[in-house]
Amino acid sequence: MVFSSLVAFVALATFASAAPSKTCPDGTRVSNTACCAFIPLAQDLQTNVFQSQCGEDAHEVIRLTFHDAIAISQSKGPSAGGGADGSMLLFPTVEPNFSANNGIDDSVNNLIPFMQTHDTISAGDLIQFAGAVALSNCPGAPQLEFLAGRPNQTIAAIDGLIPEPQDSVDTILDRFADAGNFSPFEVISLLASHSVARADKVDTSIDAAPFDTTPFTFDTQIFLEVLLKGVGFPGSPNNTGEVESPLPLGSGSDTGEMRLQSDFALARDSRTACFWQGFVNEQEFMASSFKAAMSKMAILGHSRSDLIDCSDVVPAPKSAVNAPASFPATTGPDDLELTCTSSQFPSLTIDVGATETLIPHCSNGGQDCPSVQFSGPA
Ligand code: HEM
Repeated sequence: MVFSSLVAFVALATFASAAPSKTCPDGTRVSNTACCAFIPLAQDLQTNVFQSQCGEDAHEVIRLTFHDAIAISQSKGPSAGGGADGSMLLFPTVEPNFSANNGIDDSVNNLIPFMQTHDTISAGDLIQFAGAVALSNCPGAPQLEFLAGRPNQTIAAIDGLIPEPQDSVDTILDRFADAGNFSPFEVISLLASHSVARADKVDTSIDAAPFDTTPFTFDTQIFLEVLLKGVGFPGSPNNTGEVESPLPLGSGSDTGEMRLQSDFALARDSRTACFWQGFVNEQEFMASSFKAAMSKMAILGHSRSDLIDCSDVVPAPKSAVNAPASFPATTGPDDLELTCTSSQFPSLTIDVGATETLIPHCSNGGQDCPSVQFSGPA
């Protein structure tokens, strides 16, 4: 009797500590008052950087969460880098200059001012939280977990820890395993982020070349479109890390689709092809798998038990568009290059149209994309 009431008491106490029982100055209920500081940060980021859009500035910060976190190595030891530690912001004239970080300077300079205006928040927390806020602007994205409390004491990471699009599948899988024991499935899950991506630096002859036809929506088109036969380049040929895409045609500032060599290879390699194909038209499975892998990536270099769960201050994402995956006009099942033999490819419709789809240039549908760029040291 005494024992069972003790169990009940402990269970109640555990529940009470996890439930949102504290109130922040703005009235938001949170589980820990340490989370309150992130509420004005989210508003500030939305107003002054992302403009509540899944546009370029949001994409860049989502990429930054990866480039900060993955710079850690179990084989090389702690002196190689501290993982999700904010070193990208704390050493803005070091890491952003590594060639694999080409283009990351924009997001670094856009976040640096927030280190002063929200000075109780560490650089590592700022990057991962900003990534979760950025992602919430992309319809279909999951509401990411966010744990707070990464310290600012850290070092600049060494060069060579960020995967590059020209790397082999062996090199990429080894790098993720060395950084944080990521499985091949988790690597493919993380690449759902390329559903909201465009490249500026792989081919500098074109501006913001999207990786799929829906670069402002967190959907499964990327997993379908990377499996289609490549037919040409949206800009100049022979760029390192780029291979032919299925939709290279553009018009004006609507550039054609571009394909990373690494995405192409991971979609066809025997270790990863079935995971890749398995996300096609599986919106919820893709989003939940991405969320789980991001939870692991966002705390590389830290232990969960040292951090405070502030997921309750991550904004709720825009809801999914709920359109099934479909073959872009002019493509179809005959263009699929499938190497996964253990499962059947889903049956999908083909978009109507006699010509290649033109991919919208801006998240607001226009040609002049709203964008913010602070100058800074990076
Ligand atoms: C195999 C691993 C990966 C490789 C080789 C890779 C490579 C690249 C490259 C070359 C670009 C284009 C950069 C540019 O030219 O502007 C890019 C963009 C991007 N990547 Fe990755 N990536 C990988 C994994 C990831 C992961 C794990 C994430 C996030 C969780 C991520 C998020 C992004 C985003 C959001 C963009 C778009 C940035 C923008 O539109 O400005 N990538 N990636």
